[in-house]
Amino acid sequence: MKKIITIVGARPQIIKAAAISRAIRNSFSSDLEEVILHTGQHYDEKMSGDFFSELEIPKPLYNLQVRSSLQGGQTGKMLEGIEEILLKEKPDALLVYGDTNSTIAGALAAVKLHVPVIHIEAGLRSYKKFMPEEINRIVTDHSSTLLFSPTQAGIDNLSNEGFDVNYRGEFSADKPGVFHCGDIMLDNSLYFSSKTDGVALEKFDLEKNKYFLVTIHRPQNTDNTERLASILNTLMSIADEEDCMMVLPLHPRTNKVLTEHYPELWSDLLESPSVRVIPPASYLEMMDMERNAWFIATDSGGVQKEAYFFNKPSLILRSETEWVEICNDNNALLVDADPDKIYNGVNWMKNEMNTTFAPYFGDGKAGEFIVGKIIEFLKGV
Ligand code: UD1
Ligand code: UDP
Repeated sequence: MKKIITIVGARPQIIKAAAISRAIRNSFSSDLEEVILHTGQHYDEKMSGDFFSELEIPKPLYNLQVRSSLQGGQTGKMLEGIEEILLKEKPDALLVYGDTNSTIAGALAAVKLHVPVIHIEAGLRSYKKFMPEEINRIVTDHSSTLLFSPTQAGIDNLSNEGFDVNYRGEFSADKPGVFHCGDIMLDNSLYFSSKTDGVALEKFDLEKNKYFLVTIHRPQNTDNTERLASILNTLMSIADEEDCMMVLPLHPRTNKVLTEHYPELWSDLLESPSVRVIPPASYLEMMDMERNAWFIATDSGGVQKEAYFFNKPSLILRSETEWVEICNDNNALLVDADPDKIYNGVNWMKNEMNTTFAPYFGDGKAGEFIVGKIIEFLKGV
């Protein structure tokens, strides 16, 4: 029996952990023990605790409860806490997801103790180093022994950075193994979508295709007065003009900024009859709202992909994306925070977008493939 420690911390990592924990439970429980370590980066029940029961994820054995602070302070506390637990637990490997501060803290703590790092969602790049996530991804990839990329674009990025993506000898941090595996978020969307029918439409009084869903949490949008106001005011006008509802499940970062710094915009949102501001949604509510929406406007990495999984158009509230395929194929549109581009997005959806969605993200079995490879590696097969 081999043992891995899985690091989770932010909402999307908890959701991703459901796919791997499920694969271990269903197919590999006699080979692999998984210990979940929560950094506590996200801590509100609706951003963290609720997902464990909703998505059938084993409860974390450890919670570092680092909560929020500046980039360095938050990452530093995690690094110290994870190191202590690695020394105590002596796992055979450490698994990290994505690109948050919890990801880089886990990767750094492990690689320095010579514990092999497994990175799921490797190879993604925005080529914008002002994003904390970009630094986190690069350092994590370059500390890892097994790198699992959901897309061919990710594999190409790693190849451009000098990784031998075809290497299949003995893996180590110096000679890592890179695998194209499909997307565990698609595994989850397929697995859970049958359980979602109607859970949110009823609760939030929404009519299929008569609303659009909006999520915003990137610092480049929330921490900039002009951008946040420009996005929200333009989307509110679209809701009025198109006679449909705008639904905004509010990330705590955005909630804090709006209530503390933009009282006028905040009351406009609350008072508008065509806007529904709701707390962070549960995953099943989110699935239900995504698959029944007219379209989705988002700066989230995960949500733009889920729009694609459900064959829905998305307006990406950024100037670039790591998921380049969906824009190259004209299934999603980069609109940044630019009112003209956001407005044009409506015309694009009605007249110009590609309504065929290619299967870039695998077949919903990425989790099984990844856990199989981890076990082969740990057993020296
Ligand atoms: C983090 C990740 C980001 C990811 C996002 C997913 C980093 C650098 N950023 O961003 O990549 O896309 O999670 O949602 O790791 N807060 C609460 N309650 C919570 C969590 C956060 O109130 O449970 C508030 C705090 O005011 C905090 C702010 O949200 O300061 C931001 O939280 P933080 O974890 O630092 O970054 P996110 O914006 O959530
Ligand atoms: N999500 C959720 N409730 C919400 C908003 C998002 O369950 O109110 C889910 C969403 O369906 C996706 C994941 O959270 O699976 C994406 O996380 P987030 O947008 O916080 O971060 P990112 O993917 O940008 O890192």
